[in-house]
Amino acid sequence: MTVPRRIIVAISGASGAVYGARLLQVLQPMPGIESHLVVSDAGWRNLAHELDMQRADVEALAHQVHDVRNVGAAIASGSFQCAGMVIAPCSMRTLAAVAHGLSDNLLTRAADVVLKERRRLVMLVRESPLHLTHLRNMVAVTEMGAIVCPPLPAFYLRPQSVGDIVDYSVARALDLLDVPHDLAPRWEGLALAP
Ligand SMILES: Cc1cc2nc3c(=O)[nH]c(=O)nc-3n(C[C@H](O)[C@H](O)[C@H](O)COP(=O)(O)O)c2cc1C
Repeated sequence: MTVPRRIIVAISGASGAVYGARLLQVLQPMPGIESHLVVSDAGWRNLAHELDMQRADVEALAHQVHDVRNVGAAIASGSFQCAGMVIAPCSMRTLAAVAHGLSDNLLTRAADVVLKERRRLVMLVRESPLHLTHLRNMVAVTEMGAIVCPPLPAFYLRPQSVGDIVDYSVARALDLLDVPHDLAPRWEGLALAP
């Protein structure tokens, strides 16, 4: 039996809804990939505010959609086989909930399950500046096996547009999930300066 490579894409209410939307857009045509979307209430607000995207626009990008209130959804169980999960963007509230194992909605429950099953969890955390609890929560999720991957621009690749900057971070998330892509340029090295 061929099992699709399932990736859970979660969008929480931090700024940067574009990272989640772009990730879904990139995953959609990939053969053998099945995206499972879960969006927090604040995530829906930011998708509308930052991107003018309504629910139907976002849901159309995913292979399957799960309501954040439905803690009985398939992705809430460890028996649901998946390659991993990306939270893009990840708010400090969602980070805190994952760090403390709260499982207070389907998004944080799915992240908890991914961690307990020792699967890959990539968290595109977004806040600035950071206070000590933000930092401690990042340490806690890292100790639990998650990868904290803030969506920061790589100016050394000389991005020409906001799209380039977004694609760079989405590309790094795909790399961390072992999903092959050619979304963004890769550093090919500089000759040693004379
Ligand atoms: C326009 C807007 C931008 C926000 N940006 C951030 C942010 O960058 N980081 C963050 O942690 N919270 C941000 N927030 C606050 C979160 O949306 C809020 O804490 C919310 O309760 C998070 O819930 P969630 O984690 O369930 O999505 C923002 C809120 C709004 C309305």
